[in-house]
Amino acid sequence: GYDASPYVPQGADLDELRAAAADCHGCPLYRDATQTVFGEGDPSARVLLVGEQPGDQEDRQGHPFVGPAGRVLERALGEAGVDPGDTYVTNAVKHFKFDFRGGGKKRIHKPPSLREMAACRPWLAAEMRLVRPEVVVALGATAGKTLLGPAFRVSDRRGVPEPFPGEKPELWRQVMGEGRACLVATIHPSAVLRADDREAMYAGLVSDLRRVSDALR
Ligand code: URA
Ligand code: SF4
Repeated sequence: GYDASPYVPQGADLDELRAAAADCHGCPLYRDATQTVFGEGDPSARVLLVGEQPGDQEDRQGHPFVGPAGRVLERALGEAGVDPGDTYVTNAVKHFKFDFRGGGKKRIHKPPSLREMAACRPWLAAEMRLVRPEVVVALGATAGKTLLGPAFRVSDRRGVPEPFPGEKPELWRQVMGEGRACLVATIHPSAVLRADDREAMYAGLVSDLRRVSDALR
């Protein structure tokens, strides 16, 4: 089955992981994407943010959250009182999944499957083990499913800090130990860009992210 594990070096630091991830063939998504987009930020950040997968701009530039969704996220973090310098930002899936809709040239994002999320999870686990954040932020359903299991729904638990790793996913207990980290789930910032009522969606994102700065106090 799909699995990044054989590509993840043991005992590596974040730069070594990033270099190794560039050659990952753990699932078919590497084939059509331009490059692996690995996480970036402060290696000792108190906050680790997990998005879905790189978008069109991220795929071209090779860095997470450098496109339109990234601008929404940066503004919302600032408004919520979370210092972007105290974050590590990554994605649940590290290659861009897309298709060409209607035969055009524009690359349209496609959500990753559960198999692809599971395949890519060893990279996120390795990042998590090194950064050891106090607060994990799940940005949207893909991040939530990757971190909390396939039954996760944003609307059920957004904006309510919960212990992480908590009870369920064994993988994250192995990674995080029994420490006192918490997880805050919220919408994906690109949902703000797609919404009819952008202002309300954005206000909801900021309000959820305020729980992150509360947790850091
Ligand atoms: N959306 C994501 O989930 N991640 C990115 O890096 C960019 C857009
Ligand atoms: Fe590897 Fe993840 Fe890319 Fe699949 S999406 S090839 S598992 S890095």
